Amino acid sequence: MPGSFNARCGISDCLTIRSPSKINVFLEVLGKRSDGFHDLETVMLRTQPADVLQFRAVESDQLSLTLAAGTSPAIATGFPLDGSNLILRAANALRDACGVRFGAHITAAKKVPPESGLAGGSGNAAATLLALNRLWRLNLTQVELHRLAETLGSDINFLLSGCRAAICRGRGESVEQIPLRGRFYFVSVRPRTGNSTAAVFRRLPPPTDRRCPEKIVQNLCGGFSSAFAMSLFNRLTEPAMSVNSELAGLVQRVRKTLGLELHVSGSGSTCVAAAANYRQAVVFASRLWAVTGLTPNILWS
Ligand code: C5P
Repeated sequence: MPGSFNARCGISDCLTIRSPSKINVFLEVLGKRSDGFHDLETVMLRTQPADVLQFRAVESDQLSLTLAAGTSPAIATGFPLDGSNLILRAANALRDACGVRFGAHITAAKKVPPESGLAGGSGNAAATLLALNRLWRLNLTQVELHRLAETLGSDINFLLSGCRAAICRGRGESVEQIPLRGRFYFVSVRPRTGNSTAAVFRRLPPPTDRRCPEKIVQNLCGGFSSAFAMSLFNRLTEPAMSVNSELAGLVQRVRKTLGLELHVSGSGSTCVAAAANYRQAVVFASRLWAVTGLTPNILWS
């Protein structure tokens, strides 16, 4: 979990931190704001598997990023090592905020596929803020780290909070922890075509009855049940399907042939469904693979 440093290198200038992913099990759009963004009410779950990031302080002011040996080529292709990577953007934001030019070498052992809609990049940014704040002995408070996180992306605050589950509001940056009982399993599958978040929001239908997260929160507090699996909801699923015909075909095919309801996570195009346990997640994954030809992931919280 972010915030707990699971392993130390044994010397004071090096530390290792886990960087989890997230999914949205509920997302309602509350309305459009004057800055062009939409206010959301969303329930997020921190999920495994996680990436593992290692940070080593260096003498110079250089920031460098490499992938751990043995990273699969599929993951390496979608993971930029230049300044556009959220790890380096978070490190630079931290240096600018504190007026320092400390350096670090960062090694990423990636398990969360990039651009998979599971916020692997946001998790990396959250882990970077926590790790470098400690490694460089900057002593920023949690509140100050959260302010920086807000400037980098909407999901980072949740992953920085260390909560396993939370209702997030605003653009996602306001985080209210909710209790979670037991383990929750999911399968996720991502069409080859991604979604433009802006395009998905542009296709939002006119507001109708507003869904509230109470039911799903209750179901999360009570442990897994079929009621939980059926209460997954994302207002962006329909607009995401209308901008991405591959996604629409996939959701409809899976609904028809497997009777399984998929919901996008965030604005897609990754879709998720809940499973009762690991065994059922494996069964769903193999059926999804048979029906779609795509490789699903199994996630748990
Ligand atoms: O968060 P991100 O920069 O990916 O958002 C891309 C676009 O999606 C925004 O410029 C905005 O048009 C739309 N968006 C929105 N409301 C949100 C998040 C994104 O309208 N909460």
